[in-house]
Amino acid sequence: MNRLRIGVIGLGMVGSEQVATIARSVALGELVAVSDFDLDRAHAIAEGLPGDVRVARSAEELIASDDVDAVAIASSAASHLSLVLACIEHRKPVFCEKPLALTGADCELIIDAEIAAGRRFVQVGFMRRFDTAFVELKAAVETGDLGEIVALQYVHRAADVPEYFTSAMHTTEAVVHEVDTTRWLADDEIAEVSVTGTGGRSGLDEWLDPQFFSFRTERGAMVYAEVFLRAGYGYEIGCDVVGRQGVARLTNAPVTAVSLDFRTSGVREKDFTVRFGDAYRRELTAWAEDALRGIVTGPNAWDGYAAAAATDACIEALRTGSPTVVKMRERPALYGQGPSRAT
Ligand SMILES: NC(=O)c1ccc[n+]([C@@H]2O[C@H](COP(=O)([O-])OP(=O)(O)OC[C@H]3O[C@@H](n4cnc5c(N)ncnc54)[C@H](O)[C@@H]3O)[C@@H](O)[C@H]2O)c1
Repeated sequence: MNRLRIGVIGLGMVGSEQVATIARSVALGELVAVSDFDLDRAHAIAEGLPGDVRVARSAEELIASDDVDAVAIASSAASHLSLVLACIEHRKPVFCEKPLALTGADCELIIDAEIAAGRRFVQVGFMRRFDTAFVELKAAVETGDLGEIVALQYVHRAADVPEYFTSAMHTTEAVVHEVDTTRWLADDEIAEVSVTGTGGRSGLDEWLDPQFFSFRTERGAMVYAEVFLRAGYGYEIGCDVVGRQGVARLTNAPVTAVSLDFRTSGVREKDFTVRFGDAYRRELTAWAEDALRGIVTGPNAWDGYAAAAATDACIEALRTGSPTVVKMRERPALYGQGPSRAT
């Protein structure tokens, strides 16, 4: 097999970009099938894509089809567990958008399925690991020149999110990125979390926005993340990695600035599809190359599980208003070395 025949499930905000990326920019991939509950939308999108892209009757039919070698899942988070398990059952490599599943317990079912199958099939869509600026930040950390890492400070702001967003979705949809980025940059696990917010009392019932997350890592670094999902002005991602000897800073300043009349103005990225467009291309390209070789080198099911274990604790902390310990199982041998902690 020298080209990977790919099927995509879920054609919403992310999936509609993903099919275009696969069809146009993943050299070793060929988009052959798509699926969405909304069949009219699926047909309209398929017709606008290059090549012969068929609309599957259902996600399950797409996964089982002989003409699909590998599956990318960009459907809503609640659907991920059953779809990923079906891919593993059919022995098909699968790229699953974050979160891998809604809870740590659900992610464990995926880990157990991979262990039973004897190999990894899953790459999780933690695209920051493929973003040029984040890769440079990681390289700066890996020189060791910053000294002991004592803090990571993030901003994560979006202009707006859909009506259906709830307070808990700051966690499962947004701060899950800061959780993974921290594990990857600092090579450390999140041990304890606290969450507060503005706009209501602490708890799951009111819309708290922005929310402020603080994590203590296993090695004792502190992590602060402001997650502001209706920030109005645009999309912004920032990260300071603070060491005892120096700081490495990723900013999301406007790329182009125009100075006139003693003022400087610039154009800010509209949303994540623009800010991380290159990262999505790179992560899907890497996934397709790996899938053709039968390996997973990107963020895997263990990374998806570790992130969900931390977000479980964040939701509990949001509910109770108290600091909450992250509970994780022992890291199985299938997932090799890396930050690992059992509680
Ligand atoms: N990596 C990132 O930067 C990033 C950014 C935003 C969202 N996401 C993730 O991408 C996923 C999708 O988010 P979105 O904003 O595009 O959501 P969305 O609601 O816009 O789209 C989801 C689509 O999936 C379809 N769908 C749901 N279950 C399905 C099923 N079983 N079979 C077929 N179709 C199904 C829905 O009909 C809908 O069209 C989520 O997991 C989200 O967390 C990732």
